[in-house]
Amino acid sequence: MSKHIALGVDIGGSGIKAAPVNLKTGAFTEDRYRVATPQPATPDAVGSAVAKVVSKFSPSKKTPIGITFPGVVQHGVVKFAPNMDQSWIGVNIDDVMRDYIGRFVHTLNDADAAGYGEFLYGAAHGRDGVVFLATLGTGIGSAVIVDGEVVPNTELGHLIIDGRDAEEYAAESARERHDLDWDEWSGHLQKYFSEVERLIWPDLIIVGGGVSKAHENFLPKLALRSPIVPAELLNGAGIVGAAAGAAHFRDREQLKEKAEAKKAKAAAKREAKKNSN
Ligand code: BGC
Repeated sequence: MSKHIALGVDIGGSGIKAAPVNLKTGAFTEDRYRVATPQPATPDAVGSAVAKVVSKFSPSKKTPIGITFPGVVQHGVVKFAPNMDQSWIGVNIDDVMRDYIGRFVHTLNDADAAGYGEFLYGAAHGRDGVVFLATLGTGIGSAVIVDGEVVPNTELGHLIIDGRDAEEYAAESARERHDLDWDEWSGHLQKYFSEVERLIWPDLIIVGGGVSKAHENFLPKLALRSPIVPAELLNGAGIVGAAAGAAHFRDREQLKEKAEAKKAKAAAKREAKKNSN
């Protein structure tokens, strides 16, 4: 794979999808490949399914691989994942993936990946200020991006609205479960996004998740302070954001290594000079 390509893998409750991404444009360079998420979705079962989708693209040793996970991933460790098998809690997902794929991968929360993807190539392209992205699906994922930097694991899908977890009240799954029409569901979204606006004052709100394709049915019904727009990368945002996030992480690590090597070299030089005096 060429230097400008990274592989993104999106782990979801029902499917695991992957595609190589051109980091200059954010476009897939090959068709997306999908397998069903194994049930139960334990770390081992998911690790082996991810290895299968990765091997489909035969990435070179240097190709960065980014993975999204539908829960809190703090420094590689899964801390919270309400819609996944609970055996994930406390597991270092980067280690699991390394065992199955045979090399380092970078994992991040699915909504954070989508937000990063939208910032780089989509609806928030190059936007300064505070961008809030909500993915409306089985749950509500949230991403807060400040001047292009993702604040990880914000979990604003679990704000409490009328005494209930927002995700049970306003996610796409809530619309389906309670058979809400667009007007009724828009009422729930209105309450949800008003609460978000009360707390974090975004400059722009982006709505992602599969239902964002039907945005004409609900976005015009919302009255909010900030502009609210549909995601542009639709279901690809997670894959794109994961791929770009992995490349960004690799570049940062390489910079750190270079800086450390430079420091060590300078220290050795000082030491040699001291000894020769
Ligand atoms: C999880 C989030 C995740 C979202 C979307 C929520 O239930 O807590 O971490 O981003 O679902 O998958």
